[in-house]
Amino acid sequence: MTGLHASAGSGPDMSPAAHLSLPLTISETEDNMKKAIYPGSFDPVTYGHIDIIHRAASIFDELTVSVLNNKEKSPLFSVEERVKMLKEVTEALPNVKVESFSGLLIDYARSKDVHVSVRGLRAITDFEYELQIAQTNKLLSAGELDTVFLTTSLEYAYLSSSSVKEIATFNGDISKCVPPSVAALVYAKYGHRTGV
Ligand code: PNS
Repeated sequence: MTGLHASAGSGPDMSPAAHLSLPLTISETEDNMKKAIYPGSFDPVTYGHIDIIHRAASIFDELTVSVLNNKEKSPLFSVEERVKMLKEVTEALPNVKVESFSGLLIDYARSKDVHVSVRGLRAITDFEYELQIAQTNKLLSAGELDTVFLTTSLEYAYLSSSSVKEIATFNGDISKCVPPSVAALVYAKYGHRTGV
């Protein structure tokens, strides 16, 4: 046994996981790295997302920020644009990769041999939605994909991609919500050169 399941000595395995018969643990990936996925729409990436990325990147050996390519939603930015923005704002983080995915998160995670999904929790209002996604993924993956929640730092608790878009529609100030490079692209989508 490896990682979290390891037990001392040659006696019976008394670790808590031994009684739960978990199929996999965070450390039981093929290369024994602690890997995680941070999935989302990121339309656009906000300082709240960036805060979660920094903190998750300090917890896991490798973090893949994964943009959902959902043809049913009509996002402001294309998947390519969102991936590009995310790559720019994470370029200083060597253990962070940015990709896109389509279909079920559990299939994508399995294809990457990743067993942890990271999500940010801003407020109690997020909880029901996040719990539903986490439990669905756990069920669909037969326990192979777990979700780790990071509570959003207080200064970003009010932030959402939707509110950024709404403010920018009316040429309001989004400088406290997104990095300058992202703000310029958001304003451009609405035909504004800058905010306020
Ligand atoms: O940023 P978002 O839009 O809240 O992210 C939602 C996301 C991408 C995490 C979720 O919609 C997702 O994982 N979609 C992929 C499809 C899937 O796996 N659905 C089953 C779980 S509900």
